[in-house]
Parts: sequence; structure tokens; C-alpha cells
Amino acid sequence: MPAVVEIRSISKHFGEGAARVDALRDVSLDIHAGTVVGLRGPSGSGKSTLLNVIGCIIEANSGRMSLNGELVYDRKWLRRDLRRLRLEKIGFIFQAHNLLPFLNAWENVAVALVLAGASRHEAHKRAMELLTYLGVEKRSEAMPGQLSGGEAQRIAIARALANDPRIILADEPTAALDSQRAGTVMELLRKVAQEKQSAVIVVTHDEKIFDRFDQIYTLRDGALENPQTLAA
Ligand SMILES: Nc1ncnc2c1ncn2[C@@H]1O[C@H](COP(=O)(O)OP(=O)(O)OP(=O)(O)O)[C@@H](O)[C@H]1O
Ligand SMILES: [Mg+2]
Repeated sequence: MPAVVEIRSISKHFGEGAARVDALRDVSLDIHAGTVVGLRGPSGSGKSTLLNVIGCIIEANSGRMSLNGELVYDRKWLRRDLRRLRLEKIGFIFQAHNLLPFLNAWENVAVALVLAGASRHEAHKRAMELLTYLGVEKRSEAMPGQLSGGEAQRIAIARALANDPRIILADEPTAALDSQRAGTVMELLRKVAQEKQSAVIVVTHDEKIFDRFDQIYTLRDGALENPQTLAA
């Protein structure tokens, strides 16, 4: 079975000349359906850049990338509708939950569905299903300011899952949580990976959750310290 995320020799730099920063150097990686992969490394080692490249937010400078079996980047982006690709195939979860403060919990989830074309009625129904799946349906009418950190992060996960993405990218999703809440978030991500056969990639410094991953990769100065053995 092909990997959900297949990256070959991806490099990315910012700036030129003396100001040039090589954020990713020749990174190759396969991430398979149903797995939860950790990405760690010192500050500035390229972790967020790699997530943003996989999420088609940042265009790399060289290499190749396939998502869900589709070649989307080969020395340049090959797809015109990256917005639709992001909406339909990729779920993002950030350190701070990034909920919209003027919408309640279910509306924050419904927004992602409406953007992808759902009616308000369908979006409400699906949002409530997702909140139930994540065990926060009782907080569906609460505003973000009324939610605990763990509840807000679960709403943010529900939003990331709204369109059934095959790829879930999480940048420090447990950094603001205590170890029990962090454990719950990781269990939920594992459940999603297994039940939806998604590939989940989690950037983390959080040693408490290192034992929760199928594999952990370490970036140092933009390069993978423990590369996989891959077919070309
Ligand atoms: N938009 C940008 N413009 C210029 N340089 C950038 C940009 N984004 C990232 N960089 C640089 O690229 C390198 C990698 O940054 P990145 O954000 O990927 O690190 P990180 O591993 O996520 O770090 P942290 O753990 O602090 O979040 C850093 O040197 C950073 O300063
Ligand atoms: Mg970062």
C-alpha cells in the first residue's frame, strides 16, 4: 500500500546569500495509513516548516511529494486548487487551539464544513457527531472563552477532522495541557488514525508523550537524524 505522505529529497530555504537559512535539507519520509508519527528536534530545526510543506502552505525549493497517492509537488506545486486539497485532505491542529472567539464550539467545527460546501443543517449535524466522538458534546454551545484548555483542544481536533482528512498535522498540540489532558489528546489522535486510517504527524517537545508514537523522527538543522530506509 502506498504511503499516505511520501516525501523525497525535500529542501527548503528562506532568504538568500548571507541571510540564507536552510530550514529543510534533503528530507525523505514515508508515513503510512493508521500510524501516528512524532517529529522532534531543537527550536529552529525545521519541524514547523516540514509540517507546512506537507500541508501545502509553504512551497519547497526542491524534491517531490505525494499526498494520498497524488503527486502534488515536483520541484514546484503541480496542483492549482491547493485550497481544496487542504480543506479536503488535511486537518491542522495547533499548539494554541485557534478557535474563533466569536463562534461557539459547534459553530467552530461547522465553519470548516461550510467552507467545503456543506449546508448549515448538514454542518450542524456533522459537527455534533464529531463533538460526540471526541466526548465534548455537552460543551457544544459554549464559547471558546468558557472552555478549559483540554476541551478547547478537543474542539480544535473536531474541527481538524471535519472533512475526514487522510492527513492530520499537529504542531505541539499538547504543549498547553497537563499530562493527563495531553494523554487524552494523544489517545484521541491514535483512535482517529486507526479508525479513519489517517496518517497523523505530531510535532512535539513533550517527553511525556514520546511513548505514544509508532515512530519518532528527529530533525537537526533541517535534516533527519534517523532517516528511514526508503525506495527511491
Ligand atoms: N517564513 C520564514 N522566513 C524566514 N525564515 C524562516 C521562516 N520560517 C522559518 N524560518 C527559519 O527556518 C528555520 C526553521 O524554522 P521552524 O519554524 O521550522 O523551526 P521549528 O523546528 O518549528 O522550531 P520551534 O521548535 O521553535 O517551533 C529557523 O531558522 C527559522 O528562523
Ligand atoms: Mg515550530
